[in-house]
Amino acid sequence: MRKKIAAANWKMNCTLQEGEKLIDEILKSGIVLQEHQCSIFAVPYPYLINVQHQLTGQKNYFVAAQNCHQQKSGAYTGEVSAAMLASMQIPYCIIGHSERRMYNNETNAILAEKINLCYDNNITPIFCCGESLETRESGSQNDFVAKQITASLFHLPVEKIKTIIIAYEPIWAIGTGKTASTEQAQEMHQYIRSVLSDKYGKAVADDIPILYGGSVKPDNANELFACADVDGGLVGGASLKANDFTAIIKALPG
Ligand code: PGA
Repeated sequence: MRKKIAAANWKMNCTLQEGEKLIDEILKSGIVLQEHQCSIFAVPYPYLINVQHQLTGQKNYFVAAQNCHQQKSGAYTGEVSAAMLASMQIPYCIIGHSERRMYNNETNAILAEKINLCYDNNITPIFCCGESLETRESGSQNDFVAKQITASLFHLPVEKIKTIIIAYEPIWAIGTGKTASTEQAQEMHQYIRSVLSDKYGKAVADDIPILYGGSVKPDNANELFACADVDGGLVGGASLKANDFTAIIKALPG
């Protein structure tokens, strides 16, 4: 069975103490994740070790970085490399979040470099894609998302891409309270899977988790996660409230 994933993206939120309390409260709810389910916390770099320790011994709970640099190492003050994350045994890293594409000018080509460095360091990328409102209104969202995927991922050999996690996050739904309808989400997820299938074959595409992101909340998680090609969510705002994120983890299909 394909993995079902509830991933939290804290972005630039929470102090160390607030973050610790948040994880504590979520773990206290005592959810036992099944074999095919997992929950991932993408937290700011300075908290990675701390959160990793908090999650030690918790089955199928993992920590993730929110980004890594596209160069192996060097004179890039303030940046963090994939090798550094690997040396801390960080298993996952978000790559290509729309906020980084927008504010840090991360192009599809730069993201391909980051993806390679993740794989070189045994870090599983959570690759984000998704169109703007303008692109959706022009009806070209499928072509746009396919281009993001082909340009940043399709140089990968099958052994690598088969371990990736993809997150479809329409920019118009991020932090806006406006969620894609289940029809819109399912349609795009199915399309992404067909793009993967055309290149790597159906068996590989059928195994890749595709998460939905963009205003996932406790009251829409159940119906979104019930869509055939939606394998969980990448959650921003609602991941900062213990009760909300707990409810979202519980919405993962059993
Ligand atoms: P949101 O953010 O849940 O606050 O819309 C999602 C994301 O950007 O990953």
